[in-house]
Amino acid sequence: MAPALIDVVHNADAEQVYAKNQSQEGYKEAFAQGPKTTNYESELKGVGKHPPAKYPLYLPVWDNEKDIGGKYPPNQPFEAYEHGKDADPSFKNLFKGASSVEDITANIGAEVKGVQLSKLDKAGKDELALYVAQKKVVAFRDQDFADLPIQDAIDFAEYFGPSHIHPASGAPKGYPKVHLVHRSAADTTAKDYFEERTNSITWHSDVTYEQQPPGTTFLYILDGPSAGGDTCFVNQAEAYRRLSPEFQKRLHGLKAVHSAHEQAQNALARGSIVRRDPVANTHPVVRTHPATGEKALFVNQQFVRRIAGFKKEESDYLLKFLYDHIAYSQDIQARVKWAPGTVIVWDNRVTAHTAILDWQDGQRRHLARLTPQAEPPYETPFGDSSN
Ligand SMILES: [Fe+2]
Repeated sequence: MAPALIDVVHNADAEQVYAKNQSQEGYKEAFAQGPKTTNYESELKGVGKHPPAKYPLYLPVWDNEKDIGGKYPPNQPFEAYEHGKDADPSFKNLFKGASSVEDITANIGAEVKGVQLSKLDKAGKDELALYVAQKKVVAFRDQDFADLPIQDAIDFAEYFGPSHIHPASGAPKGYPKVHLVHRSAADTTAKDYFEERTNSITWHSDVTYEQQPPGTTFLYILDGPSAGGDTCFVNQAEAYRRLSPEFQKRLHGLKAVHSAHEQAQNALARGSIVRRDPVANTHPVVRTHPATGEKALFVNQQFVRRIAGFKKEESDYLLKFLYDHIAYSQDIQARVKWAPGTVIVWDNRVTAHTAILDWQDGQRRHLARLTPQAEPPYETPFGDSSN
């Protein structure tokens, strides 16, 4: 029989794939979390071979904003102060008492033992800001952060800038300024995730859609798998320096549009919340660090949607090159391993990072991030500094 002239077939599966693609648009979420994916029962009591959470006060909730009517107002501009500029570059206050200070690789990263971050005085904190800006990421071992009263940990981080309150993530009850990364014990979302994607790599710098994205940033572990769940960092200043002077010059003056909208859509799609209306902001593609004067690439696939003023194909072409350059350059990356008591400190202005979702046996992973905001990204002209 001849086919009908107009044969309309509604393919629900295809529509679903289309809808999913719409909400991703370059954004990729390997660690989907929300009130529906947090199993409080198994977290508080343990489940099967998994013990209860070691830090139940840090279990995520999504209703801290109930008291203010459910939504935060837009973030307001503030005057940022860069403490790294006041640092003694000999780092004598930071490292007094250190038992070991070692580079992780030649191009990025250090590991420090014997220094208790929470005990640093003002001079030590200033040096911390500069040291982290220079090394890009530093793992401090055997810290007491996780055992401090939560407010004390927040107060420590706020020396470096006001806390960013994440628009979608879970936070400890009563402490919205803490961003939690949490997967419950016996969680199966890793298996679900790999049904859909080939890998969990999501290079990004945190919340770059904000007008004043974070600088010196702290992440500490509460509970983690026995192996896996490392975090990878890349030196975005070295990524800039690897480019030819002619190519560097072309990047100067360009601005990229960073968007929170896809993250918000994804949060709503999985039944989570959006506690502040999503924003988009434009930042220079090359930014300068206020303490070191280094220039760094400042684009990431998670949040950048377009080079401002470029047509879509032009923008996609340039951004793909930059993303590939960053992702393939393992010679400017470090893979940092977690251990109980570890606090990783990095400078979000000159690095990108990715979590690695490589354990699928249902072990709990639970970390807390303190995210001081910094200055609005700015650039200085090509060739005017140490670069
Ligand atoms: Fe991150």
